Amino acid sequence: MSIIEEAVRKSAEQRHRQDASAPQVARTRVRRVTPAPVEMAQAKEYQRVSLDAGVLEQNRILPRISDQAALRAYKILRTRVLRRLEANQWRVLAVSGVTVGEGKTLTAINLAIALSQDVNTWVFLVDLDLQRPRVASYLGLSGLGGEKGLSDYLLGEAPFESILYSPDIERLSVVPNFQPVPQSSELLSSPRMIELMQALENEVPRRIIVLDMPPVLASDDVLAFSPQIDGLLLVVAEGATSRDSLQTAKEVLAEMNLLGVVLNRSSERDDSAYYSYDQGSAGSRP
Ligand SMILES: Nc1ncnc2c1ncn2[C@@H]1O[C@H](COP(=O)(O)OP(=O)(O)OP(=O)(O)O)[C@@H](O)[C@H]1O
Ligand SMILES: [Mg+2]
Repeated sequence: MSIIEEAVRKSAEQRHRQDASAPQVARTRVRRVTPAPVEMAQAKEYQRVSLDAGVLEQNRILPRISDQAALRAYKILRTRVLRRLEANQWRVLAVSGVTVGEGKTLTAINLAIALSQDVNTWVFLVDLDLQRPRVASYLGLSGLGGEKGLSDYLLGEAPFESILYSPDIERLSVVPNFQPVPQSSELLSSPRMIELMQALENEVPRRIIVLDMPPVLASDDVLAFSPQIDGLLLVVAEGATSRDSLQTAKEVLAEMNLLGVVLNRSSERDDSAYYSYDQGSAGSRP
């Protein structure tokens, strides 16, 4: 059994235990019946920003992706993630990986956009890679001039409202970061960060928070922030994520609820181009 399979199996077992011990009322409540409609008055608008279609296309960001296989794969990923979040009543989803450059940021951004394309889902995309923030540049938000981001807030130099942006993608709001900051794990567990998470969760009902995070092996950031995370989506890249690094990451992963594994940069085409690896498919993949 591969390390990924083992990790997925463990998290499935954990989920099973949680489900079994959950009171009956809680289990029936989370069924996908008719989602409660969100009051439009509660769906606030933040600082408006227009996204440049050319930048999105160049950076392979939805909705400017024309590759049909990738589009299909993101939709499948969106649906699986949504189902799992709802089944567990989870709202805070961290996207991480094992080592650098596996496609975490691209996956976090495109998943956040794909989730917001579901008419019942409001999404906050938060750049929590404090040392290598990239969400702003992938979306073309950098260079607006005088903009404030997460690090300004964490350092006490900007209020909550000034770091929230509404791009022209319905139901999506973004908390970008424009400046890398040292002591990232200390900042991530600071009272100000915890306040921010509470404030985001209070903004709109049914809001999912997607966190773009650094790799689990590069720092202790993911571990330090794990009490705030409901589920972890692990991005691995074909040909780039080694078995050894996955082995090393196992201990960190064991501390968290693994929501699924995305195989990015797969050489296989069609629906498996970006493959969502979850409980149901754990047995069929090497
Ligand atoms: N499936 C893909 N197809 C083509 N290019 C991709 C794919 N996934 C990621 N890339 C490219 O690989 C590079 C790294 O991607 P990304 O920044 O998302 O990785 P990351 O894991 O967040 O990196 P870091 O560890 O530095 O945060 C980017 O140039 C991105 O456009
Ligand atoms: Mg990244």
